[in-house]
Amino acid sequence: MNSIGGNFGIIGQSAEIQQILLTINQVAPTDISVLVTGESGTGKELVAQAIHAQSHRRDKPLVVVNCGAIPEGILESELFGHEKGAFTGAVGARKGYFELGDSGTIFLDEIGEMPLPTQVKLLRVLENKDFMRVGGSKMQKVDVRVVAATNKDLLQAVQVGEFREDLYYRLNAISIRIPPLRERQEDIHLIVRKIAADFAGQNHIEFAGFTNSAFRMLQAAAWPGNVRELKNVIESMIILEKGALIDELILSRYLRPQDSGLSRNLPVPTNRSSEEVEREFIYRALLDLKSELSKLREDIYQVMFSKHPPKSLPVYSEVVSRGSDVEFSGEVAEASPVEGKTLGEIELFMINSALEQFDGSKRKAAKSLGISERTLYRKIKEYDLPF
Ligand SMILES: Nc1ncnc2c1ncn2[C@@H]1O[C@H](COP(=O)(O)OP(=O)(O)O)[C@@H](O)[C@H]1O
Ligand SMILES: [Mg+2]
Repeated sequence: MNSIGGNFGIIGQSAEIQQILLTINQVAPTDISVLVTGESGTGKELVAQAIHAQSHRRDKPLVVVNCGAIPEGILESELFGHEKGAFTGAVGARKGYFELGDSGTIFLDEIGEMPLPTQVKLLRVLENKDFMRVGGSKMQKVDVRVVAATNKDLLQAVQVGEFREDLYYRLNAISIRIPPLRERQEDIHLIVRKIAADFAGQNHIEFAGFTNSAFRMLQAAAWPGNVRELKNVIESMIILEKGALIDELILSRYLRPQDSGLSRNLPVPTNRSSEEVEREFIYRALLDLKSELSKLREDIYQVMFSKHPPKSLPVYSEVVSRGSDVEFSGEVAEASPVEGKTLGEIELFMINSALEQFDGSKRKAAKSLGISERTLYRKIKEYDLPF
């Protein structure tokens, strides 16, 4: 299946993925800039890593910069460094990512978020291989290979004046477009198997696999978060389902109803046998019941863990304030960290622990969690965390 040597962790048998692997092999040994496009979670960073790993720069740093996560005002000094006193707070001189990545590769993620003045400096470093620190007065030489990525339509950004045309053409000399997962369903099987085997192996958890119909459901799902979302679902199931064979019903609890590939509001097509139609109705009813149950479960947990129970649930709040429902409190105190928890609670727990572990460093915490800094910021806000 993989006619090309290594796959650098990029899994897929689709013609698109095979072509991408071929392109990586062709461009990696050169210094040419590469623009990787694709929706979030399609593997853009993985491609950047593969290009770096296959290049003569592999023993030098690969510096990853998320242009969308760094506040506009400081992106330029982060990229190009600054001299002492360049701006208020610049107490000493500091190297930027380009200097740190000298002789290596720089991965500029979410390049579409880069402000126009910074784009000018980037174009210059691409063309002349030199730059000036913010507040500096002399040009410095630097030898860095640039791989950029975006999930935006950059050409459209050019048309509305948000992205420089000259920079666009410079970056787009070689472009690698990764199609969304829903357009390459034939890759899902391989990806799931690999992710499941790796994760179960690394964590020493037994995993019985999927039924055929669950596999078909995985293939038909919409996956708006692409491989990242697929990976999260598989890993959550491996942890929470404790070795069970995953069938459609279990899987449906992990998929958002709108992504499950079953549209529950549309009429049932008539070219089916009445038995099939009936089965589908039952299945849809079960899905509805499932989402109501998980909503109820969330409400119960909210009441148990928060000091301000929602007004809509007077019965539960009474139970909690009397402290008489031993069944509930006992279960929570004794349970393992994940047992009986909703995904949201596990997420909250993991985010909080990561932030504590890294003393509040969003960059490090985001990296350890495998999410972008921007997502982490959003979650911190969402859960109202004190970081
Ligand atoms: N084709 C693939 N094969 C295996 N894993 C993949 C593939 N594409 C993406 N992944 C995994 O999915 C996650 C998201 O990939 P990433 O490169 O960060 O996506 P993006 O940068 O496009 O948001 C990572 O854990 C990555 O390893
Ligand atoms: Mg990314």
